[in-house]
Amino acid sequence: MKHGEARISEIYLDSSARIVCAPELIPNPGQYLLAMLSASDSPAAIPLFPSESTPEGFRSAPGIPASWTPGARIFLRGPIGHGFAIPPAARKVALIAYDDSPSRLRGLIHPAFKLGAEVVLLCNASVSDFPESVEIQPMQALTDILKWADYIAADVMRENFSSFKTALNGIALPETQVLLRVPMPCGGLAECGACALTSGYHWKMICKDGPVFNLRDLG
Ligand code: FES
Repeated sequence: MKHGEARISEIYLDSSARIVCAPELIPNPGQYLLAMLSASDSPAAIPLFPSESTPEGFRSAPGIPASWTPGARIFLRGPIGHGFAIPPAARKVALIAYDDSPSRLRGLIHPAFKLGAEVVLLCNASVSDFPESVEIQPMQALTDILKWADYIAADVMRENFSSFKTALNGIALPETQVLLRVPMPCGGLAECGACALTSGYHWKMICKDGPVFNLRDLG
């Protein structure tokens, strides 16, 4: 696993940050880094997801600690885990931000457009600065969009996963990948178990078996 120092170059009103870092530290959509202030005495690191890549690094998803300030140095470890992978044949891409901001799905827009795909975002949260070419629909349109899509990428909190599965019930789904959000204090380094998910008769560690899973692997 790679690691290195990075710099916070800007902090946005939605509590996301623009990070300047080495190219090998930039996570793919759905992957994450463990991050902490370089000068911090605290051993606690936070999982930092990307929203989109930038010429010098990436913009994070919202939720950075209040103690982070522009110009501060942070220590990054990663990228960690499995991210999203859009099938090359996908032409109708549905992004589902089931219970939160769509920021962790944003990095899929550019690769989808490069494939020539249409992109629809399902989301009940407020959405700002998404490209106009992305069609935005409320969650009530879920059934219609599931039937339309040939690839689905969803972002769901672990506690809401069973309600998400219920919402999908009975619909023949295309390739569907799910980012499960959960506290990941150790990123698999200490096997703390905080990220565990029961799947059928098996346990999965979301931090390293995921955080993006193929839906069919989740029982
Ligand atoms: S976060 Fe500690 S084992 Fe997954």
